[in-house]
Amino acid sequence: MSRQSVFLLLLGVTLAAAGVASLVQADYLVFSANKYFPAAFASSIFALSFACFVLFAWRIKIHRALGSQYGFVLNSTKVPSREGMTYMGRGFVWTTDLTRRLMELSATGRIEAIKRKLRSAAHFGAGHYLHGLGMQSVGEESLFMDNRLLAQHTLIIGTTGSGKSRLMELLIIQAIERGEPVVVIDPKGDPDRRMQRRIVETALRTDRIRDVRILDLTQPSRSIRYNPLGHFVYSKQLVSRIVASMPKEGESASFRDFAYKVVNAVVNAMHALNMKITPAKVYEYSDNVAELVRRFLKARYARWIEDADRADIVRKLVPEYERLRDEGLIKGSADLEELHKIVKHPQEHYQKMITNLFPLFAKICTGPDRALFSNEDPDEEELAWDWVDRRRMIVYVYLGSNADTERASAIGRMTLLDLQSYLGVKYAYGDPRERTPMNVFVDELHAVLTEEYLSIINQARGAGFRVTMGSQSFADLEHVLRSRPAGKRVIANANVLVQLHVEEYEDGEVFAGRCGRRQVSIPHTSIGYEPAILKSGKHDVEDFRVTLNQGEAMKEVDLVPAWAVQELPVGHYFAKWGGVVYKGRFPVLPEPKVSDADLGRISRGRFQPRECDERACVGA
Ligand SMILES: Nc1ncnc2c1ncn2[C@@H]1O[C@H](COP(=O)(O)OP(=O)(O)O)[C@@H](O)[C@H]1O
Ligand SMILES: [Mg+2]
Repeated sequence: MSRQSVFLLLLGVTLAAAGVASLVQADYLVFSANKYFPAAFASSIFALSFACFVLFAWRIKIHRALGSQYGFVLNSTKVPSREGMTYMGRGFVWTTDLTRRLMELSATGRIEAIKRKLRSAAHFGAGHYLHGLGMQSVGEESLFMDNRLLAQHTLIIGTTGSGKSRLMELLIIQAIERGEPVVVIDPKGDPDRRMQRRIVETALRTDRIRDVRILDLTQPSRSIRYNPLGHFVYSKQLVSRIVASMPKEGESASFRDFAYKVVNAVVNAMHALNMKITPAKVYEYSDNVAELVRRFLKARYARWIEDADRADIVRKLVPEYERLRDEGLIKGSADLEELHKIVKHPQEHYQKMITNLFPLFAKICTGPDRALFSNEDPDEEELAWDWVDRRRMIVYVYLGSNADTERASAIGRMTLLDLQSYLGVKYAYGDPRERTPMNVFVDELHAVLTEEYLSIINQARGAGFRVTMGSQSFADLEHVLRSRPAGKRVIANANVLVQLHVEEYEDGEVFAGRCGRRQVSIPHTSIGYEPAILKSGKHDVEDFRVTLNQGEAMKEVDLVPAWAVQELPVGHYFAKWGGVVYKGRFPVLPEPKVSDADLGRISRGRFQPRECDERACVGA
């Protein structure tokens, strides 16, 4: 409420009180000599007070019509629900008629006047009038989206601070309430760990706290353990996953090719030997390939090659292996030979390549991260997606990219690809009737996006999972994928597009393009001056004629102009789902009722109920 409105309200109340008082006190008033006076006096005061109330109501109505300046507050326990639907806030269908009105406002220069009025209240350029256009004509109602559309994947685009994470919060609450498996990948997080607190709050409320698991890169001791190389269909997937974690910039293509070769040989050999593939093991064997050759020979050819434990096995026994193979006494192994080629690489050059490419990978394979990502303790719980899916768990992955951007994005990318491998299998082989949809939320997608990830949303529509992604701009997606067509594919594959405020016109254009163009009749006025001499037969050159044309012209315009997207205030959006374009706004949810002390009860990735001490509850 603005200051003027509050003043009007207070004045109205004060006058009303004065009116009542004057009636009660009428006898004592000096002018009570005239018996009609007190009544007349009181009535005029009541009339004034009434006028204040009317003015107040009118101002509120105007402000409502212009769109709420303050968002609307909704208790997180009271998110409206409808069977099979997801609540998306309030709003209305954006029609061609609204585009026409918008064009009219723009053509007559009234937008600036409205914006001046609303300026003080808005964060982003006072664009509430966009919502107001619909409020005035059709009014707003609760918007619900059919859950089946979620399986066609949702993309939320908006600059930092436009409300992406808050909208995602609203969707996550509903996914948890539906009792489905939920995975939230949060690269950046909020300073106050709001998302985590919201998930814990909702899980406590819906009695699902036992399903919650937290993977927190910033607090390894509190986190559940997780092997980001745990799921794969082909071992090649692991190779690209590891290489995706390596620095992209600065390294020449030949360095990367070499890294690819090494990791490929190591991973294939480990896979062939049925070893558990963890980052730490891949790192160890990449650093010491000869050791893997030794193990390979021992595991596969021990019958022929004795003494396989000796350290000089590579130098001595590989020729032995080659002789046996050439004589047809043993079946050769391509995996082994690939490894051997790498061993033969000049040592010095090899070390240089490895140290250049592996520093990041080395970091997550050694030190405190080793236990977190390469668990070797069979008694420790480890995150596995099939388990998450089957047991309908709620997983929150906090990457803490502000603390260590490179590590966060390396793990983030690997995690996303790992999850993709699992979902790919589920999609290809799972029984559709048995699928409880798995809800995957990825905030700040650009921080964890890779080319390889694209295929997940590409292939798997309508399968048992729903991906909701948030990103700052289309340009960011293009930038990380380093290709415009690839960036376009992300967008093309998300059938639900929610567009929040963006800074750049080009970003607005992408959404505008998605909504298409319409014929709109737009009023126009044209004034022309011409020397009358040309038309009227007069000969005086000073004589001018003025022509004024007014009319309506049909013009083809964007249903949602790109500049309107730039005008959106915080918490407001344009969206397209199910082929319909909406203008909506979503509620501000109050702070989650989970304190820091409550979060302190998270240990080894689980929330320990208050009743039991930590030791008793771990693993319960
Ligand atoms: N629906 C809303 N109405 C009003 N303000 C909002 C709304 N959603 C978010 N905000 C404000 O905007 C801020 C940024 O929101 P956030 O979701 O963190 O943005 P993003 O994730 O896009 O960077 C929030 O802290 C909140 O104050
Ligand atoms: Mg955010």
